Amino acid sequence: MVPDPRPTPVPTWLDRARMPSHVAVVMDGNGRWAEQRHLPRTAGHGAGEEALLDATYGALAAGVSTLTVYAFSTENWRRPVDEVRYLMNFNKSLLERRQHELDDEGVRITFSGRRDWRVPKQVLRRMDEASSLTDTNRAMTLNIAFNYGGRAEIVDAVARLVADGVAPGSVSEKTIRSRLYHPELPDPDLVIRTSGEFRISNFLLWEMAYSELVFTDVLWPDFRREHLYEAIHEYQRRERRFGGLDK
Ligand code: IPE
Ligand code: IPE
Ligand code: MG
Repeated sequence: MVPDPRPTPVPTWLDRARMPSHVAVVMDGNGRWAEQRHLPRTAGHGAGEEALLDATYGALAAGVSTLTVYAFSTENWRRPVDEVRYLMNFNKSLLERRQHELDDEGVRITFSGRRDWRVPKQVLRRMDEASSLTDTNRAMTLNIAFNYGGRAEIVDAVARLVADGVAPGSVSEKTIRSRLYHPELPDPDLVIRTSGEFRISNFLLWEMAYSELVFTDVLWPDFRREHLYEAIHEYQRRERRFGGLDK
């Protein structure tokens, strides 16, 4: 994709004072998008690149400080080996293609997920390269959930807690949270899922305890910043209570 030289401005009907600080997205529906066009499922993943870049720049323009995107789950290994292989290569080449322009825009790239033996070494190397290239950027954080599972993240945090010798009496939300993959990131204010599915699919289980959820029928490859802005608008109409009675 050639970045749009004239992107849609952030709509005036969005309240700039109430932007979500952290938006997380379950980028779903690539396979169905491809099937509708009689294309292989992998063509849908490829077409998702434009959606990802447009959503990222749209979030940046709106002043969102963190965008977390679900790119590959710990359960996605169950897919056919060819699709898994495609996704590994695709994510690696996407970083190669895009890391410099994201860096130029001041985007810090981080990753959440397990670095286990199933992730090819070259993919891990690209991830490390993209993280270190963009490490000092502060305009926005693009956190890519890759080989990510919400349960796995909690298991990993608990394993570290035990390894650190934390006594049972010292186990708290704070001591667990500090061992999540990115404890420095705020919890997502808004979680968006595309493709008309109403489920969480093991995404950010700990972090989304009080997130506002917005579901849209748009298939991920068709998603653009306009859809992000509609979701933010919906978010701004919600009343967040956090268990209390006022905001
Ligand atoms: C989301 O699209 C991308 C990944 C899970 C990697 P899907 O591949 O799940 O697309 P659908 O849900 O089959 O349409
Ligand atoms: C969630 O989508 C994972 C990603 C978007 C990476 P899935 O398509 O894997 O979720 P299910 O299987 O429909 O729950
Ligand atoms: Mg899916």
